[in-house]
Amino acid sequence: MKLCMIGTGYVGLVSGVCFSDLGNDVICVDRDKKKIDNLKKGIIPIYEPGLDELVLKNYQNKRLKFSTNLKDSILKSDIIFICVGTPTKKNGNGADLSQIYNVAKEIRHSISKFKIIITKSTVPVTTGDEIEKIISQRVSKKLFSVVSNPEFLREGEAIRDFTYPDRVVIGTMDNKSNKILKNLYSPLISKGAKYINTSRRAAELIKYASNAFLATKITFINELANLCEKIDVNIEDISIGMGLDKRIGGRFLRAGPAYGGSCFPKDTKAIATTAEKFKTNLSVIKSVIKSNENRSSLLLKRVFDILKGKIKNKNICFLGVTFKANTDDMRDSSSLSMIPSLIKKGAKVNYFDPTGEKKAFNKLNNVTFSSNIGSAIENSDLIIIHTEWNDFKAIDFNKIVKNKKFIIFDMRNIYSSTKMKALKIKYYGVGC
Ligand SMILES: NC(=O)c1ccc[n+]([C@@H]2O[C@H](COP(=O)([O-])OP(=O)(O)OC[C@H]3O[C@@H](n4cnc5c(N)ncnc54)[C@H](O)[C@@H]3O)[C@@H](O)[C@H]2O)c1
Repeated sequence: MKLCMIGTGYVGLVSGVCFSDLGNDVICVDRDKKKIDNLKKGIIPIYEPGLDELVLKNYQNKRLKFSTNLKDSILKSDIIFICVGTPTKKNGNGADLSQIYNVAKEIRHSISKFKIIITKSTVPVTTGDEIEKIISQRVSKKLFSVVSNPEFLREGEAIRDFTYPDRVVIGTMDNKSNKILKNLYSPLISKGAKYINTSRRAAELIKYASNAFLATKITFINELANLCEKIDVNIEDISIGMGLDKRIGGRFLRAGPAYGGSCFPKDTKAIATTAEKFKTNLSVIKSVIKSNENRSSLLLKRVFDILKGKIKNKNICFLGVTFKANTDDMRDSSSLSMIPSLIKKGAKVNYFDPTGEKKAFNKLNNVTFSSNIGSAIENSDLIIIHTEWNDFKAIDFNKIVKNKKFIIFDMRNIYSSTKMKALKIKYYGVGC
């Protein structure tokens, strides 16, 4: 099939590459010329395990193309995936849909035969109705069908998630589009993905409801961790004990820093705002948002307590600064608020991240980047394990930090407190 991905970010690039790997002809379009020029040279804009090999393979066999020419790419394609950003509005909590509607306005100039227009971007319920309205101002409804096909991939696991999704959700009441899309996804369905066909509005809501639920699970266990810290109970025992109940499940039930990234913070706010538009109060989600927003200050308070209030001139090392492991994405990472707060209190922060130095900290005084774990931690008074990279799971701390006393605050609970005690290391986890 001939596909066009509009927006070559995480979602557009990963799904475009994976669709081409399944044998489709795919054009990945972006308005960012530098990104497209780089991709043509084999320079991948994001860190995503396995992505570069897959791009190279499919670009070389010419099933995958990159372009900045939206009109031409749409004309050459039968199925158009809109994968542009839907960030939080600058003045409010709702989703900013300007990129989506701009694309819809451009698409309507390039439809001369039947095309399926798909929103893969996460969009509030009824956005599909609006896109249909915009396009039909110029094009007969017989020539296009607007479908919602939300994407559930996780950064860091994106290729695996795309190739082996739990489910493929297709929101359309148009039988012809449903049949074509079922065929497009048939290689994934035959590997076990469940295919569900719903109304367009339901598909739009499924995505937000799923993200809001996962954010709720994280926030729930984070709040319980706060309680555990006061009653000498280990949150890990609670997570395991709860998670073994099949109705609950253990995933997304690990206490840690505030949830961040490009999706959960913006999507929880957007669904609560959308509900308000329809005069519905999603109070659970609203309190999740509030609790998560307080999470970083709670963890900072713990840092102050651990250091007995003596923060000034302390060398604090952050291991990992992205919002989670296996990605270079800094969007809404809790380190973005924690590191500046520690600096303000007089600390000196040194960080290491397997995906390299981050622009976000370049302008801050007293923040330095180390290019390896050893040099990052060797002079530290406090080592904060902020993300769960495998690189951080077997560090011989006593061997590296030789001549000074140091403390570890493991915000991901990747080490065992008993083992740390045996090694005579002062160690704190989250919720224990
Ligand atoms: N990142 C994720 O893990 C993830 C997972 C599932 C769903 N989503 C959703 O998918 C959507 C895209 O997210 P992302 O992380 O890939 O965003 P992104 O910011 O990484 O990429 C969006 C791309 O769209 C391009 N773009 C914007 N307007 C354009 C236009 N008119 N023409 C061509 N290109 C244009 C931008 O230049 C950018 O490269 C969002 O709605 C997001 O919520 C993201």
